[in-house]
Amino acid sequence: MQEYKKLNAVITGVGMFVPEKVMDNAYFESIIDTSDEWITTRTGIKERRKLENGATSDMAAKAILDLLKSKNMSAEEIDVIIIPTATPDMLFPATACIVQRKVGAVNAWGFDLLAACSGFLFALQVGRSLIESGSYKKVIVCGSDKMTSITDYTDRNTCILFGDASAAVLLEPTEDLSIGIQDSILKVDGNGEEHLHMKGGGSLNPPTHETVDKKMHYIYQDGKAVYKAAVPGMANVSYEIMQKNNLTSDDVAYLVPHQANLRIIDATAKRMGVGKEKVMININKYGNTTTATIPLCLTEYSRNGKLKKGDKIILAAFGAGYTWGSMYIVWGMD
Ligand code: UT7
Repeated sequence: MQEYKKLNAVITGVGMFVPEKVMDNAYFESIIDTSDEWITTRTGIKERRKLENGATSDMAAKAILDLLKSKNMSAEEIDVIIIPTATPDMLFPATACIVQRKVGAVNAWGFDLLAACSGFLFALQVGRSLIESGSYKKVIVCGSDKMTSITDYTDRNTCILFGDASAAVLLEPTEDLSIGIQDSILKVDGNGEEHLHMKGGGSLNPPTHETVDKKMHYIYQDGKAVYKAAVPGMANVSYEIMQKNNLTSDDVAYLVPHQANLRIIDATAKRMGVGKEKVMININKYGNTTTATIPLCLTEYSRNGKLKKGDKIILAAFGAGYTWGSMYIVWGMD
Protein backbone atom coordinates (compact mmCIF):
# COMPACT_ATOMS: atom_id res chain seq x y z
CA MET A 1 0.00 0.00 0.00
CA GLN A 2 1.25 3.47 -0.85
CA GLU A 3 2.11 5.55 2.19
CA TYR A 4 0.93 9.14 2.20
CA LYS A 5 3.13 11.72 3.87
CA LYS A 6 1.34 14.34 5.92
CA LEU A 7 1.80 17.71 4.25
CA ASN A 8 1.21 21.24 5.45
CA ALA A 9 0.32 24.11 3.13
CA VAL A 10 2.76 26.97 3.62
CA ILE A 11 2.75 30.48 2.16
CA THR A 12 5.98 30.78 0.15
CA GLY A 13 5.30 33.95 -1.83
CA VAL A 14 3.40 37.22 -1.62
CA GLY A 15 2.49 39.99 -4.05
CA MET A 16 0.26 43.04 -4.27
CA PHE A 17 -1.16 45.80 -6.42
CA VAL A 18 -2.82 49.04 -5.37
CA PRO A 19 -4.02 51.62 -7.92
CA GLU A 20 -2.26 55.01 -8.01
CA LYS A 21 -5.30 57.25 -7.55
CA VAL A 22 -5.77 58.22 -3.88
CA MET A 23 -9.11 59.36 -2.42
CA ASP A 24 -8.37 61.06 0.91
CA ASN A 25 -10.86 62.23 3.53
CA ALA A 26 -10.64 65.81 2.23
CA TYR A 27 -12.00 64.53 -1.10
CA PHE A 28 -15.05 63.09 0.68
CA GLU A 29 -15.53 66.38 2.55
CA SER A 30 -15.86 67.97 -0.89
CA ILE A 31 -18.53 65.54 -2.22
CA ILE A 32 -20.69 64.58 0.81
CA ASP A 33 -21.64 65.91 4.26
CA THR A 34 -18.80 64.40 6.31
CA SER A 35 -15.54 65.33 8.03
CA ASP A 36 -12.04 63.95 8.34
CA GLU A 37 -12.62 63.88 12.10
CA TRP A 38 -15.79 61.71 11.81
CA ILE A 39 -14.22 59.26 9.36
CA THR A 40 -10.96 58.98 11.34
CA THR A 41 -12.53 58.45 14.76
CA ARG A 42 -15.35 56.13 13.58
CA THR A 43 -13.34 54.00 11.15
CA GLY A 44 -9.58 54.71 11.26
CA ILE A 45 -9.54 55.40 7.51
CA LYS A 46 -7.52 58.28 6.04
CA GLU A 47 -7.13 57.24 2.40
CA ARG A 48 -8.30 54.62 -0.06
CA ARG A 49 -7.42 53.85 -3.69
CA LYS A 50 -9.52 53.91 -6.86
CA LEU A 51 -8.84 51.96 -10.05
CA GLU A 52 -9.67 54.43 -12.82
CA ASN A 53 -9.40 52.07 -15.79
CA GLY A 54 -9.83 48.32 -15.87
CA ALA A 55 -11.39 45.66 -13.70
CA THR A 56 -10.80 43.31 -10.78
CA SER A 57 -8.89 40.89 -13.04
CA ASP A 58 -6.39 43.60 -14.03
CA MET A 59 -5.48 44.21 -10.40
CA ALA A 60 -5.31 40.47 -9.67
CA ALA A 61 -3.04 39.87 -12.67
CA LYS A 62 -0.72 42.65 -11.48
CA ALA A 63 -0.59 41.27 -7.92
CA ILE A 64 0.18 37.76 -9.20
CA LEU A 65 2.86 39.03 -11.61
CA ASP A 66 4.39 40.95 -8.68
CA LEU A 67 4.46 37.71 -6.66
CA LEU A 68 5.97 35.71 -9.54
CA LYS A 69 8.66 38.37 -10.10
CA SER A 70 9.64 38.36 -6.42
CA LYS A 71 9.94 34.53 -6.54
CA ASN A 72 11.65 34.51 -9.94
CA MET A 73 8.97 32.00 -10.90
CA SER A 74 7.25 31.37 -14.23
CA ALA A 75 3.45 31.57 -14.60
CA GLU A 76 3.60 28.15 -16.27
CA GLU A 77 4.41 26.61 -12.87
CA ILE A 78 1.05 27.64 -11.35
CA ASP A 79 -1.36 24.72 -10.82
CA VAL A 80 -4.42 26.53 -9.46
CA ILE A 81 -5.65 30.14 -9.26
CA ILE A 82 -8.36 30.90 -6.70
CA ILE A 83 -9.83 34.40 -6.78
CA PRO A 84 -11.95 35.33 -3.79
CA THR A 85 -13.89 38.41 -4.90
CA ALA A 86 -17.18 40.20 -4.39
CA THR A 87 -16.67 42.25 -7.55
CA PRO A 88 -15.98 39.79 -10.39
CA ASP A 89 -15.35 41.31 -13.83
CA MET A 90 -18.61 39.69 -15.03
CA LEU A 91 -21.17 37.20 -13.70
CA PHE A 92 -19.37 34.67 -15.87
CA PRO A 93 -16.82 33.53 -16.87
CA ALA A 94 -15.03 33.41 -13.55
CA THR A 95 -12.51 36.20 -13.00
CA ALA A 96 -9.96 33.43 -12.35
CA CYS A 97 -10.21 32.42 -16.03
CA ILE A 98 -9.54 35.98 -17.17
CA VAL A 99 -6.62 36.25 -14.74
CA GLN A 100 -5.25 32.91 -15.96
CA ARG A 101 -5.12 34.35 -19.48
CA LYS A 102 -3.67 37.69 -18.40
CA VAL A 103 -0.78 36.17 -16.44
CA GLY A 104 -0.17 33.34 -18.94
CA ALA A 105 -0.73 30.51 -16.45
CA VAL A 106 -1.16 28.00 -19.26
CA ASN A 107 -1.11 24.94 -17.00
CA ALA A 108 -3.52 26.21 -14.34
CA TRP A 109 -7.18 25.68 -13.58
CA GLY A 110 -9.07 27.91 -11.22
CA PHE A 111 -12.28 29.45 -9.96
CA ASP A 112 -13.76 32.38 -8.05
CA LEU A 113 -15.01 32.13 -4.49
CA LEU A 114 -17.65 34.42 -3.01
CA ALA A 115 -17.55 34.97 0.73
CA ALA A 116 -17.30 38.80 0.70
CA CYS A 117 -14.87 40.12 3.33
CA SER A 118 -14.10 36.59 4.58
CA GLY A 119 -13.32 35.48 1.02
CA PHE A 120 -9.56 35.39 1.48
CA LEU A 121 -9.81 33.14 4.54
CA PHE A 122 -12.32 30.80 2.91
CA ALA A 123 -10.17 30.58 -0.25
CA LEU A 124 -7.04 29.95 1.80
CA GLN A 125 -8.80 27.02 3.45
CA VAL A 126 -9.72 25.58 0.02
CA GLY A 127 -6.18 26.15 -1.26
CA ARG A 128 -4.80 24.51 1.87
CA SER A 129 -6.93 21.41 1.24
CA LEU A 130 -5.75 21.15 -2.38
CA ILE A 131 -2.14 21.21 -1.16
CA GLU A 132 -2.60 18.90 1.85
CA SER A 133 -4.28 16.29 -0.35
CA GLY A 134 -1.06 16.07 -2.33
CA SER A 135 -2.93 16.81 -5.57
CA TYR A 136 -1.37 20.21 -6.32
CA LYS A 137 1.97 21.85 -5.62
CA LYS A 138 1.51 25.53 -6.45
CA VAL A 139 -1.79 27.21 -5.58
CA ILE A 140 -2.31 30.97 -5.84
CA VAL A 141 -4.96 32.64 -3.69
CA CYS A 142 -5.48 36.22 -4.85
CA GLY A 143 -7.97 38.50 -3.09
CA SER A 144 -9.04 41.18 -5.51
CA ASP A 145 -11.84 43.72 -5.32
CA LYS A 146 -12.80 46.85 -7.22
CA MET A 147 -15.17 48.08 -4.52
CA THR A 148 -15.48 51.52 -6.15
CA SER A 149 -17.48 49.82 -8.94
CA ILE A 150 -20.35 48.97 -6.54
CA THR A 151 -20.16 52.00 -4.23
CA ASP A 152 -22.80 54.75 -4.21
CA TYR A 153 -20.89 58.02 -3.85
CA THR A 154 -24.01 59.83 -2.64
CA ASP A 155 -24.41 57.43 0.37
CA ARG A 156 -22.23 58.82 3.15
CA ASN A 157 -22.85 55.70 5.29
CA THR A 158 -20.90 53.45 2.93
CA CYS A 159 -18.89 55.42 0.37
CA ILE A 160 -16.15 56.51 2.77
CA LEU A 161 -15.40 52.91 3.73
CA PHE A 162 -14.26 51.12 0.60
CA GLY A 163 -11.27 51.05 -1.78
CA ASP A 164 -9.73 48.99 -4.58
CA ALA A 165 -6.76 46.61 -4.28
CA SER A 166 -5.45 43.13 -4.91
CA ALA A 167 -2.97 40.90 -3.12
CA ALA A 168 -1.88 37.30 -3.59
CA VAL A 169 -0.17 34.47 -1.76
CA LEU A 170 1.42 31.28 -3.11
CA LEU A 171 0.74 28.04 -1.23
CA GLU A 172 3.14 25.12 -1.52
CA PRO A 173 3.45 21.79 0.32
CA THR A 174 5.96 21.19 3.10
CA GLU A 175 6.77 18.12 5.16
CA ASP A 176 7.85 20.44 8.00
CA LEU A 177 4.63 20.41 9.98
CA SER A 178 5.89 23.10 12.37
CA ILE A 179 5.25 25.76 9.70
CA GLY A 180 2.31 26.68 7.47
CA ILE A 181 -1.43 26.68 8.02
CA GLN A 182 -2.16 24.93 11.30
CA ASP A 183 -5.87 25.39 11.96
CA SER A 184 -9.03 27.26 10.95
CA ILE A 185 -12.50 28.03 12.26
CA LEU A 186 -14.91 29.21 9.55
CA LYS A 187 -18.59 30.11 9.85
CA VAL A 188 -21.61 31.43 7.95
CA ASP A 189 -24.98 32.73 9.10
CA GLY A 190 -27.41 33.56 6.30
CA ASN A 191 -29.46 35.76 8.61
CA GLY A 192 -26.87 38.45 7.92
CA GLU A 193 -28.14 38.93 4.36
CA GLU A 194 -30.67 41.60 5.27
CA HIS A 195 -28.03 43.89 6.77
CA LEU A 196 -25.32 43.72 4.10
CA HIS A 197 -25.97 42.93 0.45
CA MET A 198 -26.08 44.02 -3.17
CA LYS A 199 -29.49 42.98 -4.44
CA GLY A 200 -29.38 43.88 -8.12
CA GLY A 201 -27.85 42.11 -11.10
CA GLY A 202 -28.21 38.49 -9.96
CA SER A 203 -30.94 35.95 -10.70
CA LEU A 204 -33.26 37.38 -8.03
CA ASN A 205 -33.27 40.87 -9.49
CA PRO A 206 -31.89 40.86 -13.05
CA PRO A 207 -30.94 44.35 -14.19
CA THR A 208 -33.80 46.58 -15.31
CA HIS A 209 -34.31 50.34 -15.37
CA GLU A 210 -36.13 49.88 -12.07
CA THR A 211 -33.22 48.09 -10.34
CA VAL A 212 -30.91 50.88 -11.48
CA ASP A 213 -33.32 53.62 -10.34
CA LYS A 214 -33.64 51.92 -6.95
CA LYS A 215 -29.83 51.81 -6.62
CA MET A 216 -29.88 48.02 -6.27
CA HIS A 217 -26.49 47.67 -7.97
CA TYR A 218 -24.70 49.29 -5.05
CA ILE A 219 -23.61 47.98 -1.65
CA TYR A 220 -26.31 48.29 0.99
CA GLN A 221 -25.08 48.15 4.59
CA ASP A 222 -26.85 48.75 7.89
CA GLY A 223 -23.59 49.72 9.56
CA LYS A 224 -24.85 49.53 13.13
CA ALA A 225 -26.34 46.03 12.73
CA VAL A 226 -23.20 44.72 11.02
CA TYR A 227 -20.99 46.35 13.64
CA LYS A 228 -22.93 44.66 16.44
CA ALA A 229 -22.43 41.25 14.80
CA ALA A 230 -18.84 41.86 13.65
CA VAL A 231 -17.37 42.78 17.04
CA PRO A 232 -18.27 39.54 18.87
CA GLY A 233 -18.01 37.52 15.63
CA MET A 234 -14.38 38.38 14.90
CA ALA A 235 -13.27 38.66 18.53
CA ASN A 236 -14.74 35.34 19.71
CA VAL A 237 -13.48 33.28 16.82
CA SER A 238 -9.97 34.73 17.21
CA TYR A 239 -9.97 33.92 20.91
CA GLU A 240 -11.41 30.45 20.25
CA ILE A 241 -8.63 29.49 17.84
CA MET A 242 -6.03 30.55 20.42
CA GLN A 243 -7.70 28.38 23.07
CA LYS A 244 -8.02 25.45 20.68
CA ASN A 245 -4.29 25.58 19.90
CA ASN A 246 -3.08 26.39 23.44
CA LEU A 247 -1.73 29.77 22.38
CA THR A 248 -1.20 32.56 24.89
CA SER A 249 -1.12 36.21 23.84
CA ASP A 250 2.69 36.06 24.29
CA ASP A 251 2.87 33.27 21.70
CA VAL A 252 1.04 35.33 19.08
CA ALA A 253 3.35 37.50 16.96
CA TYR A 254 0.55 39.18 15.02
CA LEU A 255 -3.18 39.47 14.65
CA VAL A 256 -3.89 39.94 10.92
CA PRO A 257 -7.46 41.24 10.86
CA HIS A 258 -9.79 42.11 8.02
CA GLN A 259 -9.76 45.90 7.83
CA ALA A 260 -13.36 47.14 7.99
CA ASN A 261 -13.19 49.34 11.07
CA LEU A 262 -10.35 50.09 13.48
CA ARG A 263 -12.76 49.80 16.41
CA ILE A 264 -13.69 46.22 15.43
CA ILE A 265 -9.97 45.42 15.11
CA ASP A 266 -9.21 46.95 18.55
CA ALA A 267 -12.02 44.91 20.15
CA THR A 268 -10.62 41.71 18.62
CA ALA A 269 -7.08 42.45 19.84
CA LYS A 270 -8.44 43.22 23.31
CA ARG A 271 -10.33 39.92 23.49
CA MET A 272 -7.14 38.09 22.46
CA GLY A 273 -5.10 40.06 24.98
CA VAL A 274 -2.60 41.26 22.37
CA GLY A 275 -1.21 44.81 22.31
CA LYS A 276 -1.57 47.28 19.43
CA GLU A 277 2.04 46.67 18.36
CA LYS A 278 1.02 43.11 17.43
CA VAL A 279 -1.84 44.11 15.13
CA MET A 280 -1.29 44.48 11.39
CA ILE A 281 -2.97 47.63 10.12
CA ASN A 282 -3.43 49.12 6.65
CA ILE A 283 -6.98 50.48 6.94
CA ASN A 284 -5.60 54.02 7.28
CA LYS A 285 -4.03 53.78 3.79
CA TYR A 286 -6.45 51.61 1.84
CA GLY A 287 -9.83 51.49 3.64
CA ASN A 288 -11.85 48.31 3.31
CA THR A 289 -10.62 46.45 0.22
CA THR A 290 -12.81 43.39 1.03
CA THR A 291 -10.86 40.26 -0.01
CA ALA A 292 -7.52 42.08 -0.35
CA THR A 293 -7.13 43.46 3.19
CA ILE A 294 -5.43 40.42 4.79
CA PRO A 295 -3.02 39.47 1.95
CA LEU A 296 -2.09 43.17 1.58
CA CYS A 297 -1.08 43.19 5.25
CA LEU A 298 0.88 39.95 4.84
CA THR A 299 2.70 41.28 1.77
CA GLU A 300 3.62 44.64 3.31
CA TYR A 301 4.70 43.27 6.70
CA SER A 302 6.66 40.44 5.09
CA ARG A 303 8.43 42.78 2.68
CA ASN A 304 9.33 45.36 5.31
CA GLY A 305 10.92 42.65 7.45
CA LYS A 306 8.43 42.80 10.32
CA LEU A 307 7.03 39.32 9.69
CA LYS A 308 9.57 36.56 10.21
CA LYS A 309 9.84 32.80 9.76
CA GLY A 310 8.39 31.02 12.79
CA ASP A 311 6.04 33.88 13.72
CA LYS A 312 2.69 32.58 14.96
CA ILE A 313 -0.09 34.66 13.43
CA ILE A 314 -3.87 34.70 13.70
CA LEU A 315 -5.88 35.79 10.66
CA ALA A 316 -9.47 36.93 11.30
CA ALA A 317 -12.32 38.26 9.17
CA PHE A 318 -16.01 39.12 9.20
CA GLY A 319 -18.21 40.03 6.24
CA ALA A 320 -21.42 39.80 4.26
CA GLY A 321 -23.41 36.60 4.55
CA TYR A 322 -22.65 36.76 7.38
CA THR A 323 -19.33 35.00 6.88
CA TRP A 324 -16.54 34.98 9.42
CA GLY A 325 -13.62 33.01 10.75
CA SER A 326 -10.06 32.78 11.98
CA MET A 327 -6.91 30.93 10.94
CA TYR A 328 -3.74 30.03 12.79
CA ILE A 329 -0.58 30.07 10.67
CA VAL A 330 3.10 29.70 11.48
CA TRP A 331 4.87 31.95 8.97
CA GLY A 332 7.24 29.99 6.77
CA MET A 333 9.02 32.62 4.67
CA ASP A 334 12.45 34.04 5.52
O1 UT7 B 1 -16.34 44.54 5.94
C1 UT7 B 1 -17.61 44.03 5.95
C2 UT7 B 1 -18.26 44.15 7.27
N1 UT7 B 1 -18.55 45.52 7.57
C3 UT7 B 1 -18.24 46.03 8.75
O2 UT7 B 1 -17.66 45.37 9.57
C4 UT7 B 1 -18.70 47.44 9.03
C5 UT7 B 1 -19.41 47.51 10.37
N2 UT7 B 1 -19.92 48.83 10.68
C6 UT7 B 1 -19.14 49.90 10.92
O3 UT7 B 1 -17.93 49.83 10.77
C7 UT7 B 1 -19.78 51.16 11.43
O4 UT7 B 1 -21.12 50.91 11.77
C8 UT7 B 1 -19.73 52.36 10.44
C9 UT7 B 1 -18.30 52.87 10.31
C10 UT7 B 1 -20.27 51.94 9.07
C11 UT7 B 1 -20.58 53.51 11.00
O5 UT7 B 1 -20.13 53.86 12.30
P1 UT7 B 1 -21.16 54.01 13.51
O6 UT7 B 1 -20.40 54.49 14.66
O7 UT7 B 1 -21.85 52.67 13.65
O8 UT7 B 1 -22.12 55.12 12.99
P2 UT7 B 1 -23.70 55.05 12.83
O9 UT7 B 1 -24.06 54.26 11.62
O10 UT7 B 1 -24.29 54.68 14.13
O11 UT7 B 1 -24.01 56.57 12.57
C12 UT7 B 1 -23.81 57.55 13.57
C13 UT7 B 1 -24.16 58.92 12.97
C14 UT7 B 1 -25.50 58.94 12.24
O12 UT7 B 1 -26.12 60.16 12.51
P3 UT7 B 1 -27.35 60.23 13.54
O13 UT7 B 1 -28.39 59.30 12.99
O14 UT7 B 1 -26.77 59.76 14.85
O15 UT7 B 1 -27.71 61.68 13.50
C15 UT7 B 1 -25.10 58.89 10.79
O16 UT7 B 1 -26.03 59.52 9.95
O17 UT7 B 1 -23.15 59.29 12.01
C16 UT7 B 1 -23.80 59.66 10.79
N3 UT7 B 1 -22.93 59.32 9.67
C17 UT7 B 1 -21.97 60.15 9.23
N4 UT7 B 1 -21.57 61.37 9.64
C18 UT7 B 1 -20.54 61.92 8.99
C19 UT7 B 1 -22.93 58.20 8.93
N5 UT7 B 1 -21.96 58.27 7.99
C20 UT7 B 1 -21.35 59.47 8.16
C21 UT7 B 1 -20.27 60.12 7.51
N6 UT7 B 1 -19.91 61.35 7.97
N7 UT7 B 1 -19.62 59.57 6.47
